[in-house]
Amino acid sequence: MAEAKVAIVTGSSRGIGRGIAERLATEGYNVVINYFRSRESADEVVAAIQDSGGKAVAVQADVADCKGRDALVNAAIENWGRLDLLVNNAGITSQGRKDLLEATEESWDRVFATNLKGPFFLAQLAANRMIESGKKVGTIVNISSISAYATSTNRADYCMAKAGMQMMTWLLADRLADEGICVYEVCPGVIASDMTAPVKEKYDRLIAEGLSPIRRWGSPDDVAKAVVALASGAFPFSTGDRINVDGGFHIRRL
Ligand SMILES: NC(=O)c1ccc[n+]([C@@H]2O[C@H](COP(=O)([O-])OP(=O)(O)OC[C@H]3O[C@@H](n4cnc5c(N)ncnc54)[C@H](OP(=O)(O)O)[C@@H]3O)[C@@H](O)[C@H]2O)c1
Repeated sequence: MAEAKVAIVTGSSRGIGRGIAERLATEGYNVVINYFRSRESADEVVAAIQDSGGKAVAVQADVADCKGRDALVNAAIENWGRLDLLVNNAGITSQGRKDLLEATEESWDRVFATNLKGPFFLAQLAANRMIESGKKVGTIVNISSISAYATSTNRADYCMAKAGMQMMTWLLADRLADEGICVYEVCPGVIASDMTAPVKEKYDRLIAEGLSPIRRWGSPDDVAKAVVALASGAFPFSTGDRINVDGGFHIRRL
């Protein structure tokens, strides 16, 4: 039997990351589950994967911190001796969702450290491990957002960090193509998770009014299916692409 592939999914104790981790496990990946504060939830994810016959390990790590990033890559190598896929999913929203005229440097620093600096340097670390393996193959998927191009004036730092993720994806895709590593950006729309729970009523209304052509909330599994497809090798002549998982939100309409 072929050796199982190994994935790291950041922020996989809850929400979209959990959905991605569980679907990757179903596809036969051994998965590094990453949590920051929610240890119990991460243990639940590991147990659910193991109960279905898969392999997973939970690792506490702050992606904004270099020691945390080291711990994630080391967990993949120490447990299973390889790394095939990094999913940069962990992310936080703007602290306090303050109007742009009231936005704080504290929120900016935390959002940029978690949503852009962490993913970049983790991708750097993961890419170096993939290159060292000599296999000339690997995938990096960055979970961005429709906020990379749609303004929310009460989440300026979040929008700017997500916009930066597109250039980060292009840069990595350009540099890593010769190493056999493909890099993609996935832009979820409105997805049901703890992040959107506080604004549920607003989005219920907007969706009912036709915010996106497909009139429903997205689910973590909608995003997970896209990630699995990208990691499957089904797009061997594509890199740097943005995949929208947004019910068609990105289409300009009259
Ligand atoms: N929900 C949406 O509608 C939506 C739409 C577009 C894009 N996205 C993006 O999708 C990703 C996941 O969002 P979500 O809705 O699933 O969020 P969520 O439900 O709030 O979950 C966030 C996850 O990220 C982890 N996390 C937070 N800070 C971290 C850090 N410093 N280091 C490591 N892990 C950290 C959390 O871990 P702990 O609980 O252990 O602290 C949790 O597992 C984010 O990048 C978000 O920007 C979401």
